Amino acid sequence: MERFWIMATVNLEELMHFCRRKGFVYSGSEIYGGLANTWDYGPKGVMLKNNIKQAWREHFVTSRTDMVEIDAGILMNQKVWEASGHTAGFSDCLVDDKKTKHRFRADHLIEDQLGIDVEGKTAAEITKIIKENNLKNPITKKEADWTDARYMNLMFETNRDKINHPATLLTELLAKYKEEKIEISEAELEELKAKIESQDNGRIYLRPETAQGIFVQFKNVLLSERKKLPFGIGQVGKAFRNEITPGNFIFRIVELEQMEIEYFIDKPKTDEEWNKVFEMLLNSQHEFLTQKLGFDPANIRDKEHAAEKLSHYSKRTVDIEFKFPFGWGELTGLAYRTDFDLSQHQKYSGKDMNYLDPQTGEKFIPHVMEPTVGVDRLFLSTLCQFYAEEKLEENGKEDVRTVLKLPYNLAPFKLAILPLMKKDGLAEKAEEILVNLKKQNMSVDYDEAGSIGKRYRRQDENGTPFCVTVDYQTLENGTVTLRNRDDMSQIRVKIEELNEVFLRGKLGRF
Ligand code: GAP
Repeated sequence: MERFWIMATVNLEELMHFCRRKGFVYSGSEIYGGLANTWDYGPKGVMLKNNIKQAWREHFVTSRTDMVEIDAGILMNQKVWEASGHTAGFSDCLVDDKKTKHRFRADHLIEDQLGIDVEGKTAAEITKIIKENNLKNPITKKEADWTDARYMNLMFETNRDKINHPATLLTELLAKYKEEKIEISEAELEELKAKIESQDNGRIYLRPETAQGIFVQFKNVLLSERKKLPFGIGQVGKAFRNEITPGNFIFRIVELEQMEIEYFIDKPKTDEEWNKVFEMLLNSQHEFLTQKLGFDPANIRDKEHAAEKLSHYSKRTVDIEFKFPFGWGELTGLAYRTDFDLSQHQKYSGKDMNYLDPQTGEKFIPHVMEPTVGVDRLFLSTLCQFYAEEKLEENGKEDVRTVLKLPYNLAPFKLAILPLMKKDGLAEKAEEILVNLKKQNMSVDYDEAGSIGKRYRRQDENGTPFCVTVDYQTLENGTVTLRNRDDMSQIRVKIEELNEVFLRGKLGRF
């Protein structure tokens, strides 16, 4: 049998169909026509996502002596977001094409058509650039009738106070008007709605990043865990961003999951001192992607943020980008955020955020490095990295097999048990093997439907590294066929040796 690759990269549209068909990712609220840019993870998607999170935990937290993990709430006191700067500054500038009602992020529009970076520019300056350069609508490729650019805060709001909830207030007021036979015009109604909406009424935000939960609990962790600098606090959890232009499947979504670490260090005396820690964390991010997840180094690259473009609190930021089917895109970030966040929380909460050096007795606010990555983006890049279509030739016949070449630690199922036939006791024997392996907490699939060839292909698409075929010889001598997903080679092993396959895989020896 001859084999050769026909595709190195996958098209995003195809990948979406593949994910739906195979139970990795479905469109959200599908039976109701969906809800734009929301996605649900299916059974195999959850397994892969959990394995990715587990790999991150092992690499960044549990294999190290200087890291701990917390799980803070999605809802936090509104003052957190004032202190962090999100209430005032977590916004993107948008413009609408009045002709088509298409909405775009102004910075993307300008960067794509003029190659200019407009970070830090006011809405008026951005409007001027768009109008003076007569930018086209990128969807219709035609002339547009642009609105003025305006900034939109990306935080999702919700309301804690049920009694003073805008909808409740409006309903009550309208009922009262009805009772008192007071008539109001459409315009008055709109004005009333806007007025009620503009009041605070117990407004709270869904967190736009997990990082702030870590800063807010810094002092508690320091004291309860008796930590000494340097040490890191990690967190995995949901975050919400009302993105202006979500898209590219799960690349930019509104409900996302992040894995972030805040790594606290001494107040550095020299640039060299903090740069050493920065490089250690950057290397660790690279190791995670290339060694723990098995990404091809050719598919990732560093993007150093230019000094003049850094946020006022950041001294250095490096993103690691991945080569997605639509081009290079940010996958991870690493930022040296100085003592900005803890100082802000000290200022806004009035609580002491200092660290007391046990050796020198000096009190100071620690500095912090932040390695961060989005789970969904990592999930997407994992699929792009390991999805392949392979052309096979056998006896002059051509065929294409789709295979997810996931490393063993990421594969949803480690083994699939396939009885050659349902009859003659083969299914019973296969089930017995399945139950035994499941008892050992091994992630095993079982499939008895269709020809053995079709079942192998199904498991290739699931990314299952090994298939175990139970045949007549199994009943005679207790051996099974072990088929390797990647080279499709087959060997015979004893049933008892299947545990070893599992163990060897676990230890990364495949
Ligand atoms: N605490 C820092 C922070 O949140 P960020 O660059 O805004 O930094 C960190 O986000 C990571 O979260 C990104 O590198 C990306 O992987 C992921 N991410 C951010 N916005 C996202 C979105 N709308 N959809 C999916 N992932 C996103």
